[in-house]
Amino acid sequence: MQASFIGFDPGAPGDDRTVVKIGPHTLYCADAYWIRESLGRFDAEFMDPPYLFDNRGGGTFRKSRTGAEMIVQEQLDQGFEMSIINPLLAGSIVIFCHNDQLPELLGYLNPRYTRFCMLGWIKKNPSPMRNKHYLADVEPFVHAWNPGFHPVGEHHDMHRWVTSGTMPAKVFGHPTVKPLDVMDKIMRNLSGCTVIDPFMGTGSTGVAAIRQGKIFTGIEKNPKHFATAVTRITAAWEQYGQ
Ligand SMILES: C[S@@+](CC[C@H](N)C(=O)[O-])C[C@H]1O[C@@H](n2cnc3c(N)ncnc32)[C@H](O)[C@@H]1O
Repeated sequence: MQASFIGFDPGAPGDDRTVVKIGPHTLYCADAYWIRESLGRFDAEFMDPPYLFDNRGGGTFRKSRTGAEMIVQEQLDQGFEMSIINPLLAGSIVIFCHNDQLPELLGYLNPRYTRFCMLGWIKKNPSPMRNKHYLADVEPFVHAWNPGFHPVGEHHDMHRWVTSGTMPAKVFGHPTVKPLDVMDKIMRNLSGCTVIDPFMGTGSTGVAAIRQGKIFTGIEKNPKHFATAVTRITAAWEQYGQ
């Protein structure tokens, strides 16, 4: 299956989007804040938005871990607009975040979703430079849902803490690519068939969605990462999707 380029759809002013279809999956190179609402309702929203944390420090160690600089350059330490989380547009949501975002995020989710669970994945190669407090060896994520979209899966596959293999640093030229074993496990626990990721980066969510038989929609604003996502999701569709 070739990826088919659908084209440039100008939409509203400021809403420039390039659309690529890969089988039943649709990828948008666009600003999620402009187009998310227009894409309508999905069973699940599964997002890894820009984090918000104090990214200073590190000294000489930092020089050997250039991912920290890439995070700054790509403004992935500047947070995101929580208004993009809209319970009318998804039955459940999974969202990765930094520890520092948890109080605001949980406060935002609490009146919008009936239930939630705090989970985390264990990084085997954490960066020890988070301003000398706890080592960042666990990254939290929250799964929140409304009636009808309760998490699904085998009881023994529903662990709260997922241990991952180590990720090669800056794989795919992106500083925060998520490990596929983590993404696969979370995807298995999502209710329903349709999934959207408004901050898809290099497309890890899309690859996991295809591996778990779901229909994926992704948005990424950076053309370089969008091109990587098209390549990865096309390969996953060829391998697992047909
Ligand atoms: C934390 S990274 C996601 C990485 C992804 N999970 C992966 O495995 O490759 C967040 C991504 O959101 C993108 N992004 C930031 N603001 C955006 C926006 N307004 N609309 C769409 N994408 C955005 C960034 O370019 C970045 O690639």
